[in-house]
Amino acid sequence: MNIQTATFIGSYVEEKSCPTNALAEFAFIGRSNVGKSSLINMLCNRKDLVKISRSPGKTQTLNFFLINNQFYFVDLPGYGYAKVSREMRKKWELMIKEYLTSREPLQFIFILIDARHEPQKIDLEFVNQLIDWKLPFGLVFTKSDKSGKSKTWENVHQFHDILRSRKETIPETFITSAETREGKEELLGFIEHLIDNKLGKYIK
Ligand code: GTP
Ligand code: MG
Repeated sequence: MNIQTATFIGSYVEEKSCPTNALAEFAFIGRSNVGKSSLINMLCNRKDLVKISRSPGKTQTLNFFLINNQFYFVDLPGYGYAKVSREMRKKWELMIKEYLTSREPLQFIFILIDARHEPQKIDLEFVNQLIDWKLPFGLVFTKSDKSGKSKTWENVHQFHDILRSRKETIPETFITSAETREGKEELLGFIEHLIDNKLGKYIK
């Protein structure tokens, strides 16, 4: 699949105010600064569709991008960002939980994980949460250009080993880099597969 058009539609602070035209949605989430916004830009062949920052915590809302006039990419705020007040963090967590658990058009969630690190508690907790909520998700390892191939695979396998105790099937996994564009075809191909096989009710 090629992305021909990608348009920013809006930022929302609660699930209830998100677009209601029932197009399929694919969400991107991961710890703050993991590269969510950069990945969306890379998939869309754009430099500045989504704002990127050196300091974590840039994305604070549910940001909708209309892709090929057919479906949405949704950029979610990062979890585990320490430099906001407890109160603010609670608000984000509630907004994300509400969106993920009650959003009907949501087809699939991509959880982004920094390829350079061994499995982190915060990522495992989030994955476990999605398993408990019975939501469909895949793992996207980011910044592969900064991690050696063998180190990346070591981290991926460790993550899979931990998941095996909780899940019968290993989630779909992608190795990506916004710098080298590694993983772009695989990820877009997977989304296309979901759409072509009408695997979700909002996919038409
Ligand atoms: P928040 O919205 O703040 O939670 O961050 P985010 O997850 O959207 O991350 P963002 O895309 O803003 O990237 C954070 C930093 O990592 C930026 O400095 C990016 O340039 C850098 N970065 C993102 N992806 C990659 C990558 O694949 N390779 C390298 N080398 N740097 C990356
Ligand atoms: Mg961001």
